[in-house]
Amino acid sequence: SSLLVCPPSSPSLSLAFLFVLTLSSLCHGACVEVDSDTEAVANEGFKLGCISCKMRGEVPATASVDWYFRAQDESEYTHIYSYEDEVGEITDERFTERLDWNGSKRTRDLQDGSIYILNVTYNDTGTYRCFFNRILTFSNYEYHTNASKTIFMNVVPRLTRGMASILSEVMMYVSIIGLQFWLVVEMIYCYRKISAAGEEALRESAAEYLAIASESKDNCAGVQVAE
Ligand SMILES: *[C@@H]1O[C@H](CO)[C@@H](O)[C@H](O)[C@H]1NC(C)=O
Ligand SMILES: *[C@@H]1O[C@H](CO)[C@@H](O)[C@H](O)[C@H]1NC(C)=O
Ligand SMILES: *[C@@H]1O[C@H](CO)[C@@H](O)[C@H](O)[C@H]1NC(C)=O
Ligand SMILES: *[C@@H]1O[C@H](CO)[C@@H](O)[C@H](O)[C@H]1NC(C)=O
Repeated sequence: SSLLVCPPSSPSLSLAFLFVLTLSSLCHGACVEVDSDTEAVANEGFKLGCISCKMRGEVPATASVDWYFRAQDESEYTHIYSYEDEVGEITDERFTERLDWNGSKRTRDLQDGSIYILNVTYNDTGTYRCFFNRILTFSNYEYHTNASKTIFMNVVPRLTRGMASILSEVMMYVSIIGLQFWLVVEMIYCYRKISAAGEEALRESAAEYLAIASESKDNCAGVQVAE
């Protein structure tokens, strides 16, 4: 899924918009319009995502959200859910007790209008549309905006692991163990080589020391003789 940030209305505003976005994301979580997932698994829950950011985050607003559904074999959308004043209502019997609000909580200023389908069935396959009906409140006037998004949801059977996936996992463990074994063998080999080299060096330096010692003794004797 891609990240879609509310686009600025004019290209010349892009830079200013980016700047403001950076500032606002530093201060508090900026609203980001993320596309919904589209693949639901049968008999599991699924979140239908719908986010509509306010073009001007600082302006107070109220919003209501409506969801519509059109099954694969239908030509018309039917209203299935509405959310207003922190109350959600299921308006289609196919979804009775199966929809739950997953959007903005404890506010009437909704920017996330997502809903959650409990226990997805194959009959839920189809197109969903969410509508944001928003009223922005400026100091001396109100501004009405609507936004909508369309999601095509596909229902798939529970994900089963293919043979290839299991085989590749086995291969991964085999190669990890093989590499570690090789590493241990290599370490023992190196350790032996180093300690052998160390002993040899010790013997050599001992011999050298003895040689120097005897040489200096000779020298001393020589000096003594010269005196
Ligand atoms: C969405 O709602 C479902 C069912 O009520 C819940 O299990 C899930 O945690 C919710 N997720 C979010 C992100 O609110
Ligand atoms: C989901 O629905 C199926 C068939 O409608 C039912 O057999 C199953 O018990 C349900 N699961 C849950 C968790 O409600
Ligand atoms: C799905 O739709 C078919 C035909 O409309 C109906 O017979 C069936 O009972 C439905 N299944 C579920 C799980 O609602
Ligand atoms: C927004 O949608 C509502 C109905 O959902 C409609 O009455 C209103 O005229 C729309 N406003 C705009 C600006 O499109």
